[in-house]
Amino acid sequence: MPPSDWNASLYDQAAHFVTDYGKALLDDLKPQAGERILDVGCGTGHLTQQISASGATVIGIDSSQNMVETARSTYPEIEFVQADAAHFEFADPFDAIFSNAALHWVSNAKGAVVSMARALKPGGRFVIEMGGKGNVSILVGGLFQAFQEMGLGEVGHRWFFPSIGEYSSMLESEGIEPTLAWLFERPTPLLGESGVRDWFALFGDAIQTTVPKEEFERAVERAESILRPQLYKDGVWIADYRRLRIIGRKIS
Ligand code: BEZ
Repeated sequence: MPPSDWNASLYDQAAHFVTDYGKALLDDLKPQAGERILDVGCGTGHLTQQISASGATVIGIDSSQNMVETARSTYPEIEFVQADAAHFEFADPFDAIFSNAALHWVSNAKGAVVSMARALKPGGRFVIEMGGKGNVSILVGGLFQAFQEMGLGEVGHRWFFPSIGEYSSMLESEGIEPTLAWLFERPTPLLGESGVRDWFALFGDAIQTTVPKEEFERAVERAESILRPQLYKDGVWIADYRRLRIIGRKIS
């Protein structure tokens, strides 16, 4: 999940679309009154609250203390716990596990799958969406090209954007049977002329580089010129998001 010093208010301003798009995933979750549901990587808790509005008892977990504190103060009636998605345990199992736009931050993907499978009741539902294979490859590729042109050395990223096959086989090996899986393009508008710069300012902690901040910012400026022909349309920056959505059930 995002770094522990994640800026919750900046995140809510610049990445409100995470919650907006996540609402569609609630239709797949179909939370019911009386169910016990876990929201993994709940961020500032807006979707957790919408699950709770169905009458389910929901717990939100996030690795970021800032996110958890913001979620608790916004929705004091809901339980939020600071926990690492790759290493968590609850005494009582859940009827469903939900996660939106969080699991690509967990580099120990196996640990996350093991923790989620352990937390589900037999027959429990599994409903997640994350960045999938090829996610933001143009956007991040523009930055990598800028690094290369500017001679800034090696650059990589820490996100995990799996294919359907890769994530499904991990789930199956932990007793979660995927019943539906999609990998689909979801072009995502970024706010304002500074959309690309803001995106890298907010999420760039996952970019692996040793260059100082000023050099990084110069590379982002160069990336804007590289990316403009592909990602700037009618005055709006459009990020090349690809989502992996998986619906499944715990079978053993
Ligand atoms: C995503 O939701 O796909 C995403 C968000 C921030 C950084 C990388 C990917």
